[in-house]
Amino acid sequence: MPKLTIAIDGPAGSGKSSVAQRIAQILGYLYLDSGAMYRALALKALQNNGLALSSHSELEALAADTHIELKPTPPNLVAEGVKNQVLLDGIDVTQAIRTPEVAQAASQIATIAKVRELLVGEQRKAGAGGGVVMEGRDIGTVVFPNAELKIFLEASPEVRAERRWKEHEEKGEHFTLAQVLDEVHERDKRDRERKVSPLIRAKDAVLVDNTAMDIEETARLIVMLTREREKELAKAAGREV
Ligand code: CDP
Ligand code: CDP
Repeated sequence: MPKLTIAIDGPAGSGKSSVAQRIAQILGYLYLDSGAMYRALALKALQNNGLALSSHSELEALAADTHIELKPTPPNLVAEGVKNQVLLDGIDVTQAIRTPEVAQAASQIATIAKVRELLVGEQRKAGAGGGVVMEGRDIGTVVFPNAELKIFLEASPEVRAERRWKEHEEKGEHFTLAQVLDEVHERDKRDRERKVSPLIRAKDAVLVDNTAMDIEETARLIVMLTREREKELAKAAGREV
């Protein structure tokens, strides 16, 4: 059975990374977190004092001069919730990109068409060949519009903010729930309203609302959808499964 390309899109905290990583583990697929690329570039911009996040030309030049690599998570770190290992110009920034400041900067940078073009090119290369679960905001609409299975993952804003708040608490970072909810709202609004590749559900994406589901249940549901899709494709190709 040929391996599929699975695209998962959705707003912040909807469970994309955790669920995509678990699906990849069950199916033996490669897991790729496209958001980590936007975050890594944002981190570089923030570290580069004086580079205004509003200066599109400087950010475009920065993107062209940056090498971001996503590596599979070392198995001993999967249980700790570590997603892809992320190398920014050869330096490990896996943990450094997981701050609210970087998340906000990432969503600002992500509005720039030229920056997206460069990162989308890298994402397509990384996922070429199939057998991949890639998650982000525009995977089913732009990066892999021909993905065999597309999922739009949703959860209520309150639940998404609470999940993010818990993650911060576990890392010893103290924010109020209201602060986290504001951050999530602001980013969702920017991501949904931007002109280039906004966060929208692809017409052929299956909507999965996991407000009341845990990671395992959500992953198992999507694995079931994958098996159904495989059967449909095999039937269409005249193969038995
Ligand atoms: O990648 P995205 O921002 O969509 O979400 P995530 O990082 O996978 O999940 C955010 C937090 O919610 C993590 O701590 C997950 O463990 C948790 N989560 C959950 O409790 N129940 C789910 N169904 C999905 C995620
Ligand atoms: O994990 P979370 O859902 O909070 O965010 P993320 O997936 O790490 O993405 C960070 C930011 O990068 C998002 O708020 C988007 O603005 C941007 N992004 C994007 O525009 N397109 C993608 N395919 C992935 C992320």
